[in-house]
Amino acid sequence: MNIILLGPPGAGKGTQAQRLVERHGMRQLSTGDMLRAAVKAGTPTGLEAKAVMERGELVSDAIVSALIGDELDAMGADTGAIFDGYPRTEAQARSLDEILAARGRKLDHVIELGVDEDALVERITGRYTCATCGKGYHDTFEQPKVPGTCDKCGGTEFKRRPDDNAETVRTRMAEYRAKTAPILPFYEAQGIVSKVDGMAEMDAVTDALESILAN
Ligand code: AP5
Repeated sequence: MNIILLGPPGAGKGTQAQRLVERHGMRQLSTGDMLRAAVKAGTPTGLEAKAVMERGELVSDAIVSALIGDELDAMGADTGAIFDGYPRTEAQARSLDEILAARGRKLDHVIELGVDEDALVERITGRYTCATCGKGYHDTFEQPKVPGTCDKCGGTEFKRRPDDNAETVRTRMAEYRAKTAPILPFYEAQGIVSKVDGMAEMDAVTDALESILAN
């Protein structure tokens, strides 16, 4: 199964993708994570992406589509993919169709997480991850069971993203409204869009996703 999780910054795409990976053995393909890894490694892609990401703008379509193609090639043919943060423009949506078709895959679901943008700034500015395994946490909504220790790997170092500040978040949201939300009709025409209330409790959002995947 190949699915897209669509929604503005902080909608819960990464949180829910991690849960689906754990439950179904699917692979999370997050272009944001791929780009951050490229920035950290200092690759040519990373050097080009760094300043763009720090401004909250979108990296070029060609770069992210190439990253997705490479990741799919590195996966088992029967492992399901969860696209998290990709596609973000109509050009990327059209590229994804070609990328999937060339690998004998097709999209099964596009799931839009509907959210109240005003609440997202709190979600994003309170977010942090385990520096060792990447598990996500939040100052208010999801704290480690033992304070200062990762539930998943026992790591004790945590980090925050440089673009998770209120000013950059506003640019990221504007980019979403202008360039990403308009791709929904492209998928609605294919009859594969479902909408989920992303403001519900995390477990309720997961349950809603599971019932979509079961159909
Ligand atoms: P990216 O890394 O994709 O960031 P984003 O889309 O801005 O999304 P986020 O990761 O911020 O949010 P999320 O929806 O995953 O929320 P999360 O689950 O963490 O992109 C970063 C940058 O890379 C872009 O700005 C761009 O520059 C570049 N880029 C990436 N992809 C690109 C592409 N395809 N094309 C061009 N450029 C690209 O949740 C947030 C917090 O809320 C967490 O702490 C979580 O615990 C909490 N939370 C989640 N769900 C709930 C809930 N139901 N209730 C309460 N709290 C919740």
